Amino acid sequence: MEVVALPADEPEAASAPQYGGQPDSPARRPRPKSRATQRLEKAQVAAFMALRAVSSYSETDVELPVFFGSLSETLARLLRARRAAFWRLGPDRTLTVQPQAYGFATDSPLHDMRIRLPVDGESVAERVIFRDELDIVDGSSKDLDALWQAHGLAGIKSSIAVSWRAGDRRIGALVAYDSRRGFSNDDAWVLRVAAMATGLMWQYREAEQKLDVIAERLEQAAASRRQLLANIAAGGDEARRRFASTLHDDSLQLLTAAELQLERARVETDAEKASTQLDQLAITLKSVEDSLRRLLLNVSPQSTDLPLGLDEAIRTRLEALRTHTGIEPDIDLRLPGHLPEAVEAVVFKNLSEALTNVEKHAHATRIRVSAYPVDGGVAVVVVDDGKGFVVAESLYVPGHLGLLAIRERAQMAGGRCRIESEPGAGARVEFWVPLNH
Ligand SMILES: Nc1ncnc2c1ncn2[C@@H]1O[C@H](COP(=O)(O)OP(=O)(O)O)[C@@H](O)[C@H]1O
Ligand SMILES: [Mg+2]
Repeated sequence: MEVVALPADEPEAASAPQYGGQPDSPARRPRPKSRATQRLEKAQVAAFMALRAVSSYSETDVELPVFFGSLSETLARLLRARRAAFWRLGPDRTLTVQPQAYGFATDSPLHDMRIRLPVDGESVAERVIFRDELDIVDGSSKDLDALWQAHGLAGIKSSIAVSWRAGDRRIGALVAYDSRRGFSNDDAWVLRVAAMATGLMWQYREAEQKLDVIAERLEQAAASRRQLLANIAAGGDEARRRFASTLHDDSLQLLTAAELQLERARVETDAEKASTQLDQLAITLKSVEDSLRRLLLNVSPQSTDLPLGLDEAIRTRLEALRTHTGIEPDIDLRLPGHLPEAVEAVVFKNLSEALTNVEKHAHATRIRVSAYPVDGGVAVVVVDDGKGFVVAESLYVPGHLGLLAIRERAQMAGGRCRIESEPGAGARVEFWVPLNH
């Protein structure tokens, strides 16, 4: 890690800003600088170096304790102080020192100190942190020195502190201890600049951490959605399996029985017996019919198994629409190849529902169906020029779940859906589903 190099302690003029690295030429320095100018220049250099330290330490991917350790050291050296520390203000209005304060022994009581701020607003710590006030007399803030003393930190000869803040938010205090030549207002000013820059860096890191948390939550939400979608898809399979086994155990067995009865009746020579057998056959066939009806009740009208592929399945569905309604659909299908099965299922189910609605309700003369890749997903749009409807009313009609299902399927797949219509103005159903569930 880079530690910012300081200009030599003396002479003072050596620390004038030399950003280009070129010493000032005598021609540009016609007369000696006044002490005030020299002081100002020194403070400017120190502030510049403090800023450079904050920015260079925060650029590198260092852990926070290392950052504060290096920064405290640099700041202490800039101010000719023996020690420096960042104090963090906790939610309970208690100050605790940030790890790796510079210049303190590892067993210093400073590390375990908890400085609770009184609520009267008049304590030195409150004045420094909340009101940016600091009285420096004879090279130190006596009130601060007394504060350390009162909390068991003996041997502090001088100290100054400034508010460590980001905008109006008070994060804590930045303190320099034990100046070699007495602290000045310029030192406080340099410290203030450094504290502000550190505050901004701190806020930036916090924002980054929050972003990380949000990104993680989003990823978790996406994972749950994937899981949900997989469950739903598996649920569909499960339903199909149940359907197949019920068909086998119930209706097909009854049909086999019926076949046997038919065979017996066919070879029966006794007309009366044959008639009884035919009656039995009629009863069995009735049971077959009942059984099939029961099955039909429990089965989704829409199979999502698309042996022909999605494109072909959609065209077949549109051909059926043409046969039923006479409407010649305007088709623009640009489906990406190799869609995940779950996406295909959502696209086909939603499109089928939209088309069924057009058949059932719209009385349309024209219909346009388009599907195209966009934003890492597939968008599907169905527009008709039929009688239209009031969307807000039609979405929540008990027992009419088609439009709601379109929306929920799209959302469940991580996508979105927009249904637009007005009485007399046709209808437009649009949904988008991402490919990477
Ligand atoms: N394309 C359309 N044109 C006209 N009316 C429609 C259209 N789509 C839906 N609707 C209206 O919205 C209602 C709700 O539709 P939906 O939720 O699919 O239920 P369902 O089709 O079972 O009635 C329909 O009853 C109908 O009044
Ligand atoms: Mg419907």
